[in-house]
Amino acid sequence: MKTAITEMFGIQHPIIQGGMHYVGFAEMAAAVSNAGGLGIITGLTQKTPQDLANEIARCKDMTDKPFGVNITILPTLTPPDYPGIVKAVIDGGVKVVETAGRNPVDLLGPLKDAGIKVIHKCTSVRHSLKAQEIGCDAVSVDGFECGGHPGEDDIPNFILLPRAADELEIPFVSSGGMADGRSLVASLAMGAQGMNMGTRFIATKEAPVHDNVKAAIVAASELDTRLVMRPLRNTERVMTNAAVERLLEKEKRLGDDIKFEDIIEEVAGVYPSIMMEGEMDKGAWSCGMVAGLINDVPTCQELIDRIINEAEDILAKMNAMARDKVPA
Ligand SMILES: Cc1cc2nc3c(=O)[nH]c(=O)nc-3n(C[C@H](O)[C@H](O)[C@H](O)COP(=O)(O)O)c2cc1C
Repeated sequence: MKTAITEMFGIQHPIIQGGMHYVGFAEMAAAVSNAGGLGIITGLTQKTPQDLANEIARCKDMTDKPFGVNITILPTLTPPDYPGIVKAVIDGGVKVVETAGRNPVDLLGPLKDAGIKVIHKCTSVRHSLKAQEIGCDAVSVDGFECGGHPGEDDIPNFILLPRAADELEIPFVSSGGMADGRSLVASLAMGAQGMNMGTRFIATKEAPVHDNVKAAIVAASELDTRLVMRPLRNTERVMTNAAVERLLEKEKRLGDDIKFEDIIEEVAGVYPSIMMEGEMDKGAWSCGMVAGLINDVPTCQELIDRIINEAEDILAKMNAMARDKVPA
């Protein structure tokens, strides 16, 4: 399948694996890229720019296809070494960067000078337009359904995607709630040029996380995520568990007086224990409502082939309907 996104990134299928903390290691990115999508290494999961350079080199050993690096720009007083991260990306010969979080304008100059395509992940039309204005090549439009940080506007993709299509000139992919061929066709119908998936790619054979994480996603329904940190205006959609229920209880009790320090035990530094050790009640971890559509743990190749076959099948049936034929 060819779209503006496959052509821009030099990939076979318009399917991207979004950056994911403690999931987006070289194994994940290489598996997605080898299956014809765009795999993405999560920059900030690597402790130093040198570690990131090593991870990029490892990924290159596992695939000769294009892959990207996610650079999440955090609202923090002591920022990570972003210039060092950008240098590791450029020196590593990476061709695509997914930015997310704050406005990426300060990173764009060196990335663009190095010929790197930048796709910025946004949760609103106004932020998408800003990304276009500052020179991003594409955007990933992340609806309210998404795992991770959906922003504060709460606009689901059935509204957000056509709104983005009406306003944007650069290509965009859908993100949030995407799982299968139906998601891909719906995204294309609403004006996207492809789709980005997070949660769905965690439940794959190659995802380098503990089996408990994959089992939790398969077992979860669409009712099993919660929004946390809304009072801090840092809303995150996470899988519910004992720590999350405790966190929500604190939010209720402390109301507007709540501070980050009050919930530090539930949110800070919990990813390694959850993703690597499988301690599922250790804290809050991002997960999308799409868990309700995930019922198996295929390889990335099986998943992407299935999505493309299903999408082609749906498109053929729709074509038949459009020609007044009853589809088989
Ligand atoms: C476990 C997990 C960790 C994530 N970590 C990051 C991250 O570090 N940076 C980022 O930009 N997005 C992160 N995301 C968001 C994903 O890249 C993607 O936008 C999102 O998962 C899409 O929604 P979906 O889960 O419904 O597919 C994370 C998502 C999950 C599920």
